[in-house]
Amino acid sequence: MNILFVGDVVGSMGREMVKEYLPKLKNHFRPHITIVNGENSAGGRGITESIYKQLLEAGANAVTLGNHAWDNKAIFDFVDTAKYMIRPANFPEAPGSGMVFLRLNDLEVAVINLQGRTFMPPLDCPFKKAEELIEIAKARTNIIFVDFHAEATSEKQAMGWFLDGKATAVIGTHTHVQTADERILPAGTAYLTDVGMTGPYDEILGMDKHAVLYRFQTSLPARFEVPKTGSCRLLSSPSSGRAFC
Ligand SMILES: [Fe+2]
Ligand SMILES: [Fe+2]
Repeated sequence: MNILFVGDVVGSMGREMVKEYLPKLKNHFRPHITIVNGENSAGGRGITESIYKQLLEAGANAVTLGNHAWDNKAIFDFVDTAKYMIRPANFPEAPGSGMVFLRLNDLEVAVINLQGRTFMPPLDCPFKKAEELIEIAKARTNIIFVDFHAEATSEKQAMGWFLDGKATAVIGTHTHVQTADERILPAGTAYLTDVGMTGPYDEILGMDKHAVLYRFQTSLPARFEVPKTGSCRLLSSPSSGRAFC
């Protein structure tokens, strides 16, 4: 099972990268399924219905989200009908779905999105929620992909070990910086702390670096914007994990 996963797509530059390079990456890696994290795809904050559709048209089979899921209010108009969009499952109460099943010829793949709690807003326990969803998923499939959207490396590693042998892959998002710790854990789960972002590269986490620098240096408020021009990168994780019985 090959899964191609593209990290947080940031703004119009990130979307352009997906449009241009996702088909090429798919051609090269021939993944069985492709998943894209779209939490920053609308101007760095949230997602709209037309952008969700663009990501699917570019080749994504599913779009995961994160803490920015709700930043663009347009999401509330389509989150309940977007069959292939997954918001963090451990929100105590939220519209939309935290797990979707993708059909792949005669196989099914469960895609789960969870959000961490360390240095992030308090949500329900992602570990308990992971256990609960995996139990539901196992009734249908042994191929389970988890996008763990979290800040702390330790919490992400904890989720990797917690789900080793239970999920096919546990791949992190949210920090926008790719880590170099990809591995197959002892019981067979593919793990990467963070896949990194897709979008403006010579900036700070995809946002105009001047505004970020200003805020760090002065502690005064500054609105972060996604630049419209400049160099770009698409970061992804072609991961091979195995299905579990
Ligand atoms: Fe993000
Ligand atoms: Fe995030």
